[in-house]
Amino acid sequence: MSTEEGFASLAGKCALVTGAGRGIGRAIALELARAGAWVVCNDIDPRTATETAARIHLEGRGAFPYAADVSDSEAVRRMVQDVVAATGRLDILVNNAGIEPSSPILETPDEMWDRTMNVNLKAVFLTSRAAGQVMRAQGGGAIVNVASIAGVRTPLALRAHYCASKAGVYGFTKACALEFAAHNIRVNCVCPGVIITPMTAKARRTPEIMARWQQEIPLGRLGTPEEVARVVRFLASDEAAYVTGQAYFVDGGKAMH
Ligand SMILES: NC(=O)c1ccc[n+]([C@@H]2O[C@H](COP(=O)([O-])OP(=O)(O)OC[C@H]3O[C@@H](n4cnc5c(N)ncnc54)[C@H](O)[C@@H]3O)[C@@H](O)[C@H]2O)c1
Repeated sequence: MSTEEGFASLAGKCALVTGAGRGIGRAIALELARAGAWVVCNDIDPRTATETAARIHLEGRGAFPYAADVSDSEAVRRMVQDVVAATGRLDILVNNAGIEPSSPILETPDEMWDRTMNVNLKAVFLTSRAAGQVMRAQGGGAIVNVASIAGVRTPLALRAHYCASKAGVYGFTKACALEFAAHNIRVNCVCPGVIITPMTAKARRTPEIMARWQQEIPLGRLGTPEEVARVVRFLASDEAAYVTGQAYFVDGGKAMH
């Protein structure tokens, strides 16, 4: 089945998107909903999660907000249980929630390291375990993790904790794909480059950084959340039925070298 736009429909599928209150996560939630999925919009911020779900409703699509901290094991277990109780299934999981605090390694407190690892990496394990159990029982599913070129190819100064967490997501994606293949669950990740979201707002206000980025990015511009969302939608859909354990760079060519 395909949508009006011609790509594979997600009609009848239930998707859980973490960190869906703004930025890339909101764009992913909207993109999956437009493709026909029923979308659970998770965020730690209940107000923004509700706003995203409301935007989806305005377009005549199905969604509901779910406030939870994805680094909290019990909260994640409950969230997945509630999603299945409400919709009867869970077909797509998008692990997008992330934080990017900045600090030189020599001054980084333990708490910042731990929080970054817990939100960016441990949460991916927690949600994959909980959702994977549901998908296994259902006979299949698709998981898409949002990593970063910063974890794989282009490290960022003052963000060693962030880079390490995203390298972890990259490795976890592949190991998870290997294990989950037997359950017909595909697991892939996207590695965005520099995307126009609140996360990059401060850096985008600095002319020297913008000039450097424009020079470093072969396509000569920053990416939009929608450009990442379209690749996530592809990976989550049956169009990518034979794709698993892969990392898709959505970065205007920044990390191709
Ligand atoms: N913007 C970029 O240039 C860029 C580049 C590479 C990768 N990424 C990754 O893409 C993802 C989305 O980034 P963004 O730019 O949209 O960021 P953002 O800061 O604009 O949005 C992140 C969202 O995640 C939510 N969140 C944070 N901690 C959470 C938690 N514990 N539980 C649930 N939700 C939580 C936030 O409330 C927020 O709504 C992140 O994983 C980020 O690391 C972003």
